[in-house]
Amino acid sequence: MKKLFLLLFVLAIPAVHGDNGAYIGVNIGTAMSSVPAPTQIAALLRSQNIRNVRLYDADPAILAALANTGIRVIVSVPNEQLLAIGKSNATAANWVARNVAAHYPAVNITAIAVGSEVLSAMPNAASLLVPAMRYLQNALVAAALDRYIKISTPHSSSIILDSFPPSQAFFNRSLDGVLVPMLRFLQSTGSPLMLNVYPYYEYMRSNGVIPLEYALSRPLPPNKEAVDANTLLHYTNVFDAVVDAAYFAMAYLNVTNVPVMVTETGWPHKGDPSSEPDATTDNANTYNSNLIRHVTNSTGTPKHPGVAVPAYIYELYDEDTRPGSTSEKYWGLFDMDGTPAYALHLADSGALLSNDTTNQTYCVARDGADPKMLQAALDWACGLGKVDCSALMQGQPCYDPDTVEAHATYAFNAYYHGMGMASGTCYFSGVAMVTTIDPSHGSCVHAGKNGTSLLSSTSLAPLSNPTAGESGARRATGEVSSLAGMVSAALLLSVLPLL
Ligand SMILES: *[C@@H]1O[C@H](CO)[C@@H](O)[C@H](O)[C@H]1NC(C)=O
Ligand SMILES: *[C@@H]1O[C@H](CO)[C@@H](O)[C@H](O)[C@H]1NC(C)=O
Ligand SMILES: *[C@@H]1O[C@H](CO)[C@@H](O)[C@H](O)[C@H]1NC(C)=O
Ligand SMILES: *[C@@H]1O[C@H](CO)[C@@H](O)[C@H](O)[C@H]1NC(C)=O
Ligand SMILES: *[C@@H]1O[C@H](CO)[C@@H](O)[C@H](O)[C@H]1NC(C)=O
Ligand SMILES: *[C@@H]1O[C@H](CO)[C@@H](O)[C@H](O)[C@H]1NC(C)=O
Ligand SMILES: *[C@@H]1O[C@H](CO)[C@@H](O)[C@H](O)[C@H]1NC(C)=O
Ligand SMILES: *[C@@H]1O[C@H](CO)[C@@H](O)[C@H](O)[C@H]1NC(C)=O
Repeated sequence: MKKLFLLLFVLAIPAVHGDNGAYIGVNIGTAMSSVPAPTQIAALLRSQNIRNVRLYDADPAILAALANTGIRVIVSVPNEQLLAIGKSNATAANWVARNVAAHYPAVNITAIAVGSEVLSAMPNAASLLVPAMRYLQNALVAAALDRYIKISTPHSSSIILDSFPPSQAFFNRSLDGVLVPMLRFLQSTGSPLMLNVYPYYEYMRSNGVIPLEYALSRPLPPNKEAVDANTLLHYTNVFDAVVDAAYFAMAYLNVTNVPVMVTETGWPHKGDPSSEPDATTDNANTYNSNLIRHVTNSTGTPKHPGVAVPAYIYELYDEDTRPGSTSEKYWGLFDMDGTPAYALHLADSGALLSNDTTNQTYCVARDGADPKMLQAALDWACGLGKVDCSALMQGQPCYDPDTVEAHATYAFNAYYHGMGMASGTCYFSGVAMVTTIDPSHGSCVHAGKNGTSLLSSTSLAPLSNPTAGESGARRATGEVSSLAGMVSAALLLSVLPLL
């Protein structure tokens, strides 16, 4: 194995051409009991300066909301639709016409993700995967869109075996019949290998072999770095090790010019305290903050320094209707109302994801809320709720527009800020919601802007107890490669005499 590896390493050097597009994107799953309106989703993305997203389908309403925003979008063929497309050129052409051509270029669709973890989640459909990709490509060519839109398919990292040291990684050989033609396809179309990378699951499955710091990409003292004895490359985190394992596994099949794109990665911020003790806000914050810093710095990986690895964070919203363990529901950066799950530690990551989002939220009347309930909640806020509602009087700055929605928004937001934005204080029997968009207009300044608070006196309980949207998350339950073995092997290898 080692000899073979050395040979391949030499072959692998030419490597991927630097496409220096280092960027962070975000996945948008919608397994929620109350899915935000497409316009709210688009508003959240814009307020957070999220410029790249991946959808798990090609929902026309969400695509319409993303039109003319400049946001770049990966659309997906859901696994359920794969069989039909893989069997019929015409079905594929139809899919592209309806879900891609109809929206482009108003929506900047950059790629089609064909299925999700098909080789591991739906092995029976594996033989149709490459035909589906080819048929979709034919349709893009026929529509003259192939220059702008790439076709690929996201893989679970579990298809990579023996991934540590990364230089010894190879794809599960029983998948070669699919992977070899697929890699040729990616090569010939200039498309990336899409890979889902979950250091959280690698860590969980390792039973203590992988140190938490290593999974979270925390700085390690040099003597704790894992060294790949074949290449002498130093690995300071699981993310890089898995991405490099993919590069080496491709090189093993003689493919050295297909870049890796990480279509999913993240960390849950909440889980079952006894079985998932490391699913915490602090760890999620640390992982995602380190990830953003690492990716946007264009550091690349040890095997390909400086070669950007774009990565899509899993995920925008918590998804409360995801089945599985508790943590499955809590991978979001935001809850369903758009309240940040935590404020990322991002001192210098550019403009992506505001530093201090928790201090930039507002409470507004929910779109489409019943006007009678809004009126009742408004009356309560300005009465028992002790909000100073004088700005809503005729002739005062917030009188116009004189609608129950606008007035309720003013009062709800004042109450919410007066209560220190505590959980459950933007509820009002369900007719209120949190947003990151400042509702202030003209001379009508809403609470929260410049730290204003308009509550005349604090102290009351919220109108109703929040069922505070138990948040929720997605994710094809972590199948994981043998990273545990991998790290122990690395630690061993690192003390072996050098070649
Ligand atoms: C889509 O985004 C890419 C990358 O930023 C850009 O080069 C391209 O011009 C955009 N296309 C459209 C149609 O906006
Ligand atoms: C599929 O459609 C493309 C054009 O859309 C055509 O060039 C190709 O020959 C078709 N393939 C099959 C198997 O029908
Ligand atoms: C390799 O893939 C085959 C077919 O999907 C699967 O049955 C097998 O368990 C995989 N092997 C490993 C070690 O994951
Ligand atoms: C890769 O290249 C080597 C050396 O040319 C060859 O022996 C091997 O069959 C190739 N493997 C594949 C999967 O093409
Ligand atoms: C960013 O990259 C530079 C060089 O590529 C490196 O020296 C620096 O440590 C990196 N910063 C972070 C935060 O990773
Ligand atoms: C984040 O904070 C840093 C330093 O406090 C500041 O320079 C930067 O502009 C902030 N970014 C955003 C998006 O607010
Ligand atoms: C929000 O503001 C409060 C008070 O100014 C401050 O104590 C807190 O640290 C801020 N939160 C974040 C995430 O910056
Ligand atoms: C809020 O801050 C902005 C910019 O610092 C300033 O122009 C505006 O007058 C302030 N508004 C209030 C109500 O203090």
